Amino acid sequence: MGREPVDFPAWLAQKVGHVETVLEQFLPSASTVPGRLHQAMSYAVLGGGKRVRAALVYAAGEAVLASGTKASAQEIALDHAAAAVELIHAYSLIHDDLPCMDDDSLRRGRPTVHIQFDEATAMLAGDALQPLAFELLSLMPIAPALTVQATQLLARSSGSLGMVGGQAIDCNSVGQVLDAGQLQQMHRMKTGALLEASVLLGGIVAGAGSAARAGLESYASAVGLAFQVVDDILDVTSDTATLGKTVGKDAAENKPTYVSFMGLDGSRELLESLRSQALAALLPLGPSAARLAGIADYIVGRDR
Ligand code: IPE
Ligand code: IPE
Ligand code: MG
Ligand code: MG
Ligand code: MG
Repeated sequence: MGREPVDFPAWLAQKVGHVETVLEQFLPSASTVPGRLHQAMSYAVLGGGKRVRAALVYAAGEAVLASGTKASAQEIALDHAAAAVELIHAYSLIHDDLPCMDDDSLRRGRPTVHIQFDEATAMLAGDALQPLAFELLSLMPIAPALTVQATQLLARSSGSLGMVGGQAIDCNSVGQVLDAGQLQQMHRMKTGALLEASVLLGGIVAGAGSAARAGLESYASAVGLAFQVVDDILDVTSDTATLGKTVGKDAAENKPTYVSFMGLDGSRELLESLRSQALAALLPLGPSAARLAGIADYIVGRDR
């Protein structure tokens, strides 16, 4: 991948561009039968998205492996892991937008998959992205024991004890008032789990020991929750053109969010404490964790 850019925005832009080419490489082409399904999969995955999860994989890899020491097999494995989490994430967005869930018509500045194609194709495109993610993990050229750990982690964090479970709680919480513990659990599961997995996948691929993993876990837990708190805030404070998705949906649909629970000021205070927790957790990892620190600042800074 050539030399690593020095400043964070350039580094992030490079990773965003790079994971896009990795994803392009692994998505079946629209000329492969069934073409319409493959077209919908590519439509959902490519050409948009901040790629925060992929960036977390790469940044955690860098935090564990001092710059310049990455073997090419580890670089390939980081690519596979980064693409895998983006595939799971893209599938979760397709399903999140379906009429039976959030019923959204705009995503990443374009019509959602069920609007652009049809509901059955959208559902199946999501279904197909999920096993493709696990196929990518299975093809990581690293020690099989690490691949098993990575697979278990992604499976656990995207299933009923993670993302899907959080989405189920979300669907069942419409119109309800959740207490602090319930709200935090929903956010940690529906969004935090996959962000946490992204960080830990980077650590696993890079061969992190138990001390490094503990730091990564504490960092990931803070940024994972922070990410959904910011998403809740932006749904109130941002605009549809900037976000590329319809704002004001949470209030319109009567969803319990951090903003409805503790207001904008309270949510922003919580964000600052999560940022502090994330940055403190990185201290034992030293200067190689600079990209992870950059991502924590980037996530919290989206609210400005
Ligand atoms: C949106 O995720 C859904 C949530 C889990 C909050 P992102 O804000 O990461 O969406 P993209 O990938 O950048 O479009
Ligand atoms: C989405 O949360 C969480 C997942 C997709 C797992 P939201 O429903 O708040 O995400 P947006 O705001 O539609 O992107
Ligand atoms: Mg939702
Ligand atoms: Mg939604
Ligand atoms: Mg939202």
